[in-house]
Amino acid sequence: MKQAELFSDDEQSLVDAARRAAQNAYCPYSHFSVGAAVETDMGIFVGCNVENASYGLSCCAERVALFSAVAQGARRFLRLAVSCPQTIPEAPLESRVPCGACLQVIAQFLPMEAPLLIDGVGRKRLRELLPYPFR
Ligand code: THU
Repeated sequence: MKQAELFSDDEQSLVDAARRAAQNAYCPYSHFSVGAAVETDMGIFVGCNVENASYGLSCCAERVALFSAVAQGARRFLRLAVSCPQTIPEAPLESRVPCGACLQVIAQFLPMEAPLLIDGVGRKRLRELLPYPFR
């Protein structure tokens, strides 16, 4: 299915922002670049994954985008896009959706019904991917 069929025009522009952000990924260990873009009351903020020689210190693209938005004063979050541009078309959903840690952080800031725009997959609700966030 073509990208244009997965998203509306404004959704697609958020996905495109995530895809562009993935180009800045610092991933010398996994070589798996990820980009994220979150739309807020203060505009769009992007993030990419940033890895570290001490592997556990690496940070996912989604959290980089969210933390950047918070640091710049955003408090109302509307939707989030994520892109793993290197994944092959046949790659499963599990290698495209945000990891569990990022979903918990997303749940801290976005409403449970907020759309998560997954490049190559389509629109999912946060509630679908993480029905029981820790509160
Ligand atoms: N990664 C993300 O940026 N977001 C996710 O939701 C899952 C994984 C990154 C972490 C690491 O740099 C690379 O992808 C491989 O796991």
